Amino acid sequence: MSRIAYVNGQYLPREHAMVSVEDRGYQFADGVYEVCEVRGGKLIDERRHMARLDRSLKELRIARPMSAKALSVILHETVRRNRVRDGVVYLQVTRGVARRDFLFPAADTPPAVVVTARSADPVKLEATAAEGIGVITVPDIRWQRVDIKSVALLPNVLAKQAARDKGAREAWMVDAKGRVTEGGSSNAWIVTRDGKLITRPLGQDILPGITRSVVMDLIKDQGLAFEERAFTVEEAYAAREAFVTSASQIVQPVVSIDGRPVGNGAPGLIASALRRDYHRHAEVS
Ligand code: PDD
Repeated sequence: MSRIAYVNGQYLPREHAMVSVEDRGYQFADGVYEVCEVRGGKLIDERRHMARLDRSLKELRIARPMSAKALSVILHETVRRNRVRDGVVYLQVTRGVARRDFLFPAADTPPAVVVTARSADPVKLEATAAEGIGVITVPDIRWQRVDIKSVALLPNVLAKQAARDKGAREAWMVDAKGRVTEGGSSNAWIVTRDGKLITRPLGQDILPGITRSVVMDLIKDQGLAFEERAFTVEEAYAAREAFVTSASQIVQPVVSIDGRPVGNGAPGLIASALRRDYHRHAEVS
């Protein structure tokens, strides 16, 4: 649990860490965020996460709140103050605080910045990965710019709760053509019967996952068969393996889809190997 939060220039005990009711993140979900893995007290893939943050801000025309260097200091300091060795650090930037109006506030309105950090139990995470998770499929009802990591996550909230209600851990969202876009908070992958790794190409319909990009480097490095293309739910049912990638779960094997076992119903060899090798490729800072 996060005990100290950075809020607009101050490190505050969580019970005093608050934002204005007129924060545009609260009023309009007018903001963006990043989640970075913390491992051994260090940030994983920080550079790529910060590059994606910059892109999200630019796409929404939200000013960059401070230099990348200053932001990096705050991320590390929040991790340190919360004594997080393994877990995640969360960063949110909104368009700031202003009287409720759909139009952008005055150009000199400073963006609002919140950073929190929390621990995760690495033993528990490994135990989950050793078992694998179940996913369900749901229609993708999101807006058409989910490549921007905005805090507007209501469809994802509903999708993940639907998964939980069915005893699954993640929801795979499906486009109008019956093809999987991505998970509620992860990118989706399958391994075909003939051993080829498949994941959807980047576009405005999925988040450009940082873990996805590092896993792609790993795949290239190891010379594994790989194809970047959309896959259908039917293909996923017939896959040999499936898995999801995200900063908080790294590579998480999927062992059932809509209650049907994937392959032999146990975590796949390729997914498990990618999980094992991930941190040898990730950048640590
Ligand atoms: N979720 N797709 C969606 C919709 C996501 O929310 C996430 C990340 C990903 C994976 O991206 P990355 O590999 O950069 O974490 C894909 C974060 C972890 C979250 O919301 O908690």
